[in-house]
Amino acid sequence: MTSRSLVPSHVAVIMDGNGRWASHRGRPRWMGHARGARTAREVVAHCARLGVDNLSLYAFSSDNWKRPREEVGFLLELFASHLESQLADLLQHGIRLSIFGRRDRLPAALVQAIAHAESRTAQGTRMHLRVAIDYSSRAAIAEAFAQSAAAESMAALDAATPGQSLLPPVDLLVRTGGERRLSDFLLWECAYAELAFLDVPFPDLTTEHLDTVFADFAKRERRYGAAPGQAVVSDDDDALAAAVPAARPVAQAQKKL
Ligand code: IPE
Ligand code: IPE
Ligand code: MG
Repeated sequence: MTSRSLVPSHVAVIMDGNGRWASHRGRPRWMGHARGARTAREVVAHCARLGVDNLSLYAFSSDNWKRPREEVGFLLELFASHLESQLADLLQHGIRLSIFGRRDRLPAALVQAIAHAESRTAQGTRMHLRVAIDYSSRAAIAEAFAQSAAAESMAALDAATPGQSLLPPVDLLVRTGGERRLSDFLLWECAYAELAFLDVPFPDLTTEHLDTVFADFAKRERRYGAAPGQAVVSDDDDALAAAVPAARPVAQAQKKL
């Protein structure tokens, strides 16, 4: 199936460049993270406005435990306080929040704040915001395989995704901060994602940057292996339905608002 002129249904963002943003200003790295949290709030609001169904943010990777203790401690506290301070906003805008990744290594207070925010926002239908904390895509894929070992097929893995270790397919992946790599984020889900690498550090990301990336996305013809302009032809409709994300025309997505 090939398609154009779409709002991405699932947007994933690797929020990178916080530390360098601060260092370039002669400031401690934690200040970059604090500014990054503000930017994250704007990204969430803007994606909801644009009609995105799923927004997945990379906040802390399983490899980020390698960082200095103080930086890790600051980040974990920032997540807990941000969850609390954003709750009213999320509820007001009908946004459902989920955290994905390991929880067994997180401080009890953070695990509690996560459970609270998740249950309070569970009825939100406008957008599903997922935040990755202590997340490794390779670990998630290994877990999904272990969970569906009995099913032994890719289709079974796709079918097993909602609410488990794998997420819906990503339509658009954005990474700020100048690096052009995935750093163990949503490797399976990004099979046919459009990739946007921005040099701007995350704290400086604006809604205009996002608009530009979305406008570029809307121009892409997504072919999923088909020839340009080719109509849907599949001898395995279930596999195709699982692989092709549910993206919708811009006007239709904005009608949701
Ligand atoms: C991303 O910014 C935030 C986290 C990984 C928690 P960085 O902290 O990686 O910032 P840089 O890449 O060092 O500038
Ligand atoms: C990826 O950024 C993790 C997050 C943005 C949370 P990193 O800064 O940790 O990735 P590398 O080390 O540059 O690959
Ligand atoms: Mg980084």
